[in-house]
Amino acid sequence: SLIVPSVQELAKLPLTKIPLRYVRQYHHHPLSDDTTPSVPIIDLRNLLAAASGSSTYSSELNKLHTASKQWGFFQVINHGVSESLLEDFKREVLNFFKLPMEEKQKLWQEEDNHEGFGQLFVVSEEQKLDWSDMFYVTTLPHDLHRSQLFQKLPLILREKLEAYSKEMKKLAMGILGQMAKALEMDGDEMRELFHDGVQSIRMNYYPTCPEPELALGFSPHSDADALTILYQLNQTEGLRIRKDGKWVAIKPLPNALVVNIGDIMEIVSNGVYKSIEHQATVNSNNERFSVATFYSSNMGTELGPARSLVAKHKVANFRRVPLEKYFKGFFAQKLNGKSYLDFMKL
Ligand code: SIN
Ligand code: FE2
Repeated sequence: SLIVPSVQELAKLPLTKIPLRYVRQYHHHPLSDDTTPSVPIIDLRNLLAAASGSSTYSSELNKLHTASKQWGFFQVINHGVSESLLEDFKREVLNFFKLPMEEKQKLWQEEDNHEGFGQLFVVSEEQKLDWSDMFYVTTLPHDLHRSQLFQKLPLILREKLEAYSKEMKKLAMGILGQMAKALEMDGDEMRELFHDGVQSIRMNYYPTCPEPELALGFSPHSDADALTILYQLNQTEGLRIRKDGKWVAIKPLPNALVVNIGDIMEIVSNGVYKSIEHQATVNSNNERFSVATFYSSNMGTELGPARSLVAKHKVANFRRVPLEKYFKGFFAQKLNGKSYLDFMKL
């Protein structure tokens, strides 16, 4: 990646226009109107605590299944992550972005590594840039931890990050288990694929922008992982997802987390669940913070449609590749502006 300016530093300047590198030229998809329903809300307590034969359970499971097929996105409430951990982690993430530039520079991305402060996938001086700063780190499994980078983080942030990472793994495994039930996939197969999964965390800061309609906080993309859990740290809206050709805003809901299907889950589910394109917008009045936690299958597994689903559907809709090869292919294709998911389709 090339080194790009910190948007936080840019936003401190008395700009009335944004630099050309941030000006988008393509047409946005139209915004949804009031007739578009909002993204489904799943009450996880009805899935994780209700008796599995009860009607409460089966109707919630059905909601989860429909949301994953038709939206690729939903919000979860009663998710079991403690409010105090969410508050503590939020405070430390906000403090982290407010550190002086000299401190943050020590955590800058290195030449051959995506981890640290910076922007991902920047390959040329001409390329359009996102109006955001981010910090990206691999958190699980522990042997993929870059301890040098972790040791440079403020101790209190490191502690909260580790606690948060653990909770996010637990939550992801809980949701994946329910998805196995909804898909009528072998639950053991799901656990085998994901019990020691690769997790990474991306913290995003979107400063206010003087020309918000010309810029984007996060370019349109689908996620490469299996399941993403997004914590919107403040009440500023920004996330937009593509639904039936229009962009639908996802409103931050107090105490809720946003969950979405990534490319890996679309593949594992044999195409039943959908990995949906989304983007983040910015605005001129309010800054925005979010944390995305990405969960993928274990290192060393082969990625492909679940065998129990191929048997049930009597057809495989995606090819099989080792997970490492998939990630390499994903990054290479991303730089070409193409989707690796399309390459995986049979
Ligand atoms: C994303 O992770 O794709 C969007 C993040 C956000 O809404 O801030
Ligand atoms: Fe994303």
